[in-house]
Amino acid sequence: MSESLTIRRPDDWHLHLRDGAMLEGVLPESARHFARAIIMPNLVPPVVTGAQARAYRDRIRAALPQGADFTPLMTLYLTEETDPADVVASHRDGTIHAVKLYPAGATTNSASGVRDFDRVRPTLEAMAEAGVPLCVHGEVTDPEIDIFDREAVFIDRVLDPIRRATPGLRVVMEHVTTSQAVDYVRTAKDGLAATITTHHLVINRNHILAGGIRPHYYCLPVAKRETHRRALRAAATSGDARFFLGTDSAPHPDADKESACGCAGCFTATNTLSILAHVFEEEGALERLEAFTSLHGAAFYAMAPNAARITLRRRTAPLSLPARIATGAGPVTLFDPGFPLYWEVAE
Ligand code: NCD
Ligand code: ZN
Repeated sequence: MSESLTIRRPDDWHLHLRDGAMLEGVLPESARHFARAIIMPNLVPPVVTGAQARAYRDRIRAALPQGADFTPLMTLYLTEETDPADVVASHRDGTIHAVKLYPAGATTNSASGVRDFDRVRPTLEAMAEAGVPLCVHGEVTDPEIDIFDREAVFIDRVLDPIRRATPGLRVVMEHVTTSQAVDYVRTAKDGLAATITTHHLVINRNHILAGGIRPHYYCLPVAKRETHRRALRAAATSGDARFFLGTDSAPHPDADKESACGCAGCFTATNTLSILAHVFEEEGALERLEAFTSLHGAAFYAMAPNAARITLRRRTAPLSLPARIATGAGPVTLFDPGFPLYWEVAE
């Protein structure tokens, strides 16, 4: 059994940092282990212009702990009013690295998302031309569609038509939760990849609902049945470069999660690498952890992998982590994988 593993410093290709006091509280948790992260733009109001992305990037940089080595990679929130020229210019000058598509109403702070996909066609075409990746929250919002089917239906109704109509558009299907999404990504030849979260490799829908309702396991897309979790594990540990880590670490104050209408989102920034090492070891794939956390995503975004390295060590006694972290916006509960963690990032 390996006792230690040295890998290139990981990147997080889907992260929510929020703003203000929450940003200050959670940013050190990501900056400790990750070199770069794709920063989600679903603030209130959302980050919709290049100027807003630059201002948000400045606020993130200002909130970094002294000496931290962390680069925020900004995104724009696609709306029906998005100006294609602003997208292309902001990408060309290095402000943004992707554009995020939220179907209106699909998830937290998505009210300004897209209702009529024809209205964003000029932007998608400009993005394909300029090589700007589109990150997709892949769920339909049709109330007639069962919440557990929303991702699979999105592929047929929205994603595949968009990709056919916009050849050359590079797409990341974010936080995939189903075997249908894994299969769809595998059939694509080029320009399609998927991020997989830490928590979706660990929980299925029973964790949320069996034996009492557990709001800290509720996120969107919601965890599906066990067969899907297994498909995600197989994809993540396969070495297939189309799958890479996007934690979707999405902090909410506990009061907003533990409520009659609790917010969606799992906070995993703090213990993601310990959990992933555990999962990959369980799958007999520790030697492929680095590809998932530190190589495949960079390759998709045409960036060099990080030169710096981190070392994970296997402890004999389980790691003791706080149940929640304190932030100026209130306590935030850390995702509990439900098993003891032995892998620790050496400081
Ligand atoms: C995210 C959030 O809280 O911003 N929530 C979540 O459950 N993942 C939004 C998202 O990525 O869907
Ligand atoms: Zn997210």
